[in-house]
Amino acid sequence: MNKLVIATNNAHKLEEIKAVVGDKFEILSLAELGCFEEIPEDSDTLEGNALQKARYIYEKYGVDVFADDTGLEVVALDGRPGVHTARYAYPDRNDTEANVSKILDELKEKKDRRAQFRTVIALILKGEEHIFEGKVEGFIATERRGTDGFGYDPVFSPEDTGKTFAELGVDVKNTMSHRARAVQKLCAFLNA
Ligand code: IMP
Repeated sequence: MNKLVIATNNAHKLEEIKAVVGDKFEILSLAELGCFEEIPEDSDTLEGNALQKARYIYEKYGVDVFADDTGLEVVALDGRPGVHTARYAYPDRNDTEANVSKILDELKEKKDRRAQFRTVIALILKGEEHIFEGKVEGFIATERRGTDGFGYDPVFSPEDTGKTFAELGVDVKNTMSHRARAVQKLCAFLNA
């Protein structure tokens, strides 16, 4: 079976991908590849970061690979935090509570609460690069609501649901999320 490396050790992402393309490709994590170093990720766009990670693995190990990068883009903040979504509150670490508090604070006086989550996947297959994008539009809630999910889920409310991702729950979220949509496009391409 063809091997395909996913540039992550995140168990959730691995399972999600294996469930869809697992019968056509043997999906390997970075640990399974034997890659334990930190992969550079210092581009100023999501596309740039996804490509940078995929190229790093391809050039070093010569395997088919894909990498993803996700950002929350808030209209009233000119698209921020964007590429800085994970380390929005502190540049040196991912502190979810502080990240969410910062967004709520910055939007306190704002009427326009529109935002979108966007995931970009960069695939290098047989030396050729392909990009897939998934996004979901919605709003930043005025306070944390719900307990499911992770990251900004308690304050992101996808359009037409009236609930946050954390209230909708992981099963519903996985049918409509930015990441699920990008992964669906990747899988459609791999299965074509
Ligand atoms: P990554 O590129 O998948 O590591 O995502 C970067 C950051 O975006 C994460 O650390 C989270 O803070 C946030 N994030 C990504 N996906 C989601 C999501 O589905 N819900 C809430 N926050 C997310």
